[in-house]
Amino acid sequence: MNSPARPYLIAPSILSADFARLGEEVEKVIESGADVIHFDVMDNHYVPNLTFGSMICKALRDYGVEAPIDVHLMVSPVDSMIEQFLEAGASIITFHPEASHHVDRSLQLIKDGGAECGLVLNPATSLHHLDCVMDKVDQILLMSVNPGFGGQSFIDNTLDKIRQVRQRIITSGRDIRLEVDGGVKASNIRAIAEAGLTCLSLGLRYSTKKDYKAAIDEMRAELALANNS
Ligand code: DX5
Ligand code: ZN
Repeated sequence: MNSPARPYLIAPSILSADFARLGEEVEKVIESGADVIHFDVMDNHYVPNLTFGSMICKALRDYGVEAPIDVHLMVSPVDSMIEQFLEAGASIITFHPEASHHVDRSLQLIKDGGAECGLVLNPATSLHHLDCVMDKVDQILLMSVNPGFGGQSFIDNTLDKIRQVRQRIITSGRDIRLEVDGGVKASNIRAIAEAGLTCLSLGLRYSTKKDYKAAIDEMRAELALANNS
């Protein structure tokens, strides 16, 4: 997926959308200025919560959603879910390295299926998991909350992790998106951006404001003030 003209991507998480009207909600949030739809897939095994499978992704594609769908797999094992979400129309698939016995093979499975691939690092997961994959990943997702639930508070030491990953991306010379996921709000988004992101995708709650455009405009206004010198 090519990065758009503006430097930051906003990727609302459907986790807190109104599931009784999911198609309309996704349409509305894209019309309100979101760039990507963040899909939080949980299996009540890798994380202590259960959400939805690939059928919801397929249903949104059949409904007519064309925006990139950024699938965040909080499941273990991952490979069968990768195959299902590729089939269902996922644009990006990321997974937690602890959830796959063969990380390189799982990343290659995503790429071979025509989607962009990436790893998700939990707050206490070491950056060493990136050592052997910087030539392969298209996106790195840093969890700024412990995975499993929306509405949690941003874990502040993520800022230093962002700076370290940013340096690794610069050293790699590759155009790798750095996504931060969890507890991102208008009140902290500027500090997160100034931590040195190349491109920022946000898992954010729809329900912070029922007026999606106002919520996204507020985020963009803060991002515009970020000093990325
Ligand atoms: C948590 C998910 C996040 C979360 C984002 O496991 O990966 O995407 O739903 O929601 P907020 O922005 O409310 O933390
Ligand atoms: Zn997520």
